[in-house]
Amino acid sequence: MTFGKGVCVSVFVVDGGRKLAGEVSVQGSKNSALPILAATLLCGGECVLYNCPRLSDVEASLAILRYLGCTAYREGSTLVVNTDGMDRCDIPPELMHRMRSSIIFLGAIVARFGRARMSFPGGCELGPRPIDLHLSALREMGISISEEHGMLDCVVEDRLNAAKIALPIPSVGATENTMIAAAVADGTTVVANAAREPEIVDLADFLNACGAKISGAGESTIIIEGVEKLTPACHTIIPDRIVAATLMSAAAVTGASIRLKHVIPAHLQSVLPVFRDSGCEIDINPDGLRISAPYRLHSPKLIRTMPYPGFPTDAQAPVMSMAAVADGMTVFVENLFLSRYSHVSELCRLGADIRVEGKVAVVDGVRRLLSAPVRAHDLRGAAALVVAALCARGESEIGGIEYLERGYEDFELVLSSLGADVKKI
Ligand code: UD1
Repeated sequence: MTFGKGVCVSVFVVDGGRKLAGEVSVQGSKNSALPILAATLLCGGECVLYNCPRLSDVEASLAILRYLGCTAYREGSTLVVNTDGMDRCDIPPELMHRMRSSIIFLGAIVARFGRARMSFPGGCELGPRPIDLHLSALREMGISISEEHGMLDCVVEDRLNAAKIALPIPSVGATENTMIAAAVADGTTVVANAAREPEIVDLADFLNACGAKISGAGESTIIIEGVEKLTPACHTIIPDRIVAATLMSAAAVTGASIRLKHVIPAHLQSVLPVFRDSGCEIDINPDGLRISAPYRLHSPKLIRTMPYPGFPTDAQAPVMSMAAVADGMTVFVENLFLSRYSHVSELCRLGADIRVEGKVAVVDGVRRLLSAPVRAHDLRGAAALVVAALCARGESEIGGIEYLERGYEDFELVLSSLGADVKKI
């Protein structure tokens, strides 16, 4: 489809109502890959990242690395990044605006170069997404940061110093930025009230493979003993738990039985009970799980998003599509982001019955959704619309697929391999 002056955008056309079947592998985690790519800056030399998904957000990170003078090439799902040639420390606004995670480069660039200049980051519109916690943590480590005309100018005299950092909320990004910078700071940094997400543990595993000394990742207190320098390493990115939850929602709404390979069930500890409460059977096996959905889902009743190990905000939208066709009422409480219900009005176009009041969404399950043209406004909202269209009667056209492609690799192919009728046009 072409708009305006030859700008091409994709839409998905989904002919709903097909029961999925079969087996798929879950891609590597976007939210692990992005901070790990930033952290490669500390190593110099060649890092090899296995299971790295092909996504527009990963491409945005690679564009930043290349702009900084690094090289990167891909062979299948393996990315080889060489940061030896880094010869600049600024990121232009057009690269910063492509995604919010570009701010993760701040700690890494200053730690390697002693200074950095970049604009505020962009990303999906989920309400205000400040970076104050990133900046205050890095300031405590001796970085002087001035903010003028939307630009951040950062400089550190000599080496970064260790600090005791107590985060007021367990921000994933602020924890990652601090861990990366502290890995090569002078002394031992302690991060209290740290985020506990599996992606934090994956980042710590990568940094430790490069010679860092980080303990406590996955717990509320992380201890980072700074080392002089890091060396390159090979690392396998963990499977993406949000993609797994999305595929489980797709199976649930189509009454399907599918097997997901490359899943770490422990990472889904707050998600699996929601599917079980909805009447799905889940069999855990060594390399993944099988989900078998009932003819009619039961409503999961109450879903409150929380920092890990609570129910992930990123799974809220796709699971809402499941609640939309479940028997009974489900109440969602979105505690992480202010504007994370942009998919609701579009789900209602497909026939869902959902009311939103502040951070609460009340979903009255309907028997059936009906096809409609809809448009995504953010990444997980796009996933929710695809899930809903899979069970809506008739052909739905979904716009805003560029959001989906930030986080889901070849999603139309994955769903087609399970028997769905999804075309990207
Ligand atoms: C990461 C994930 C994102 C997920 C989110 C919450 C990546 C690339 N993205 O985003 O998919 O939805 O965690 O699990 O890993 N906050 C502040 N000040 C800050 C930083 C955050 O007030 O400096 C607030 C945010 O506005 C939000 C909350 O803290 O309300 C959590 O945000 P945070 O954990 O930082 O999310 P991200 O790292 O941006």
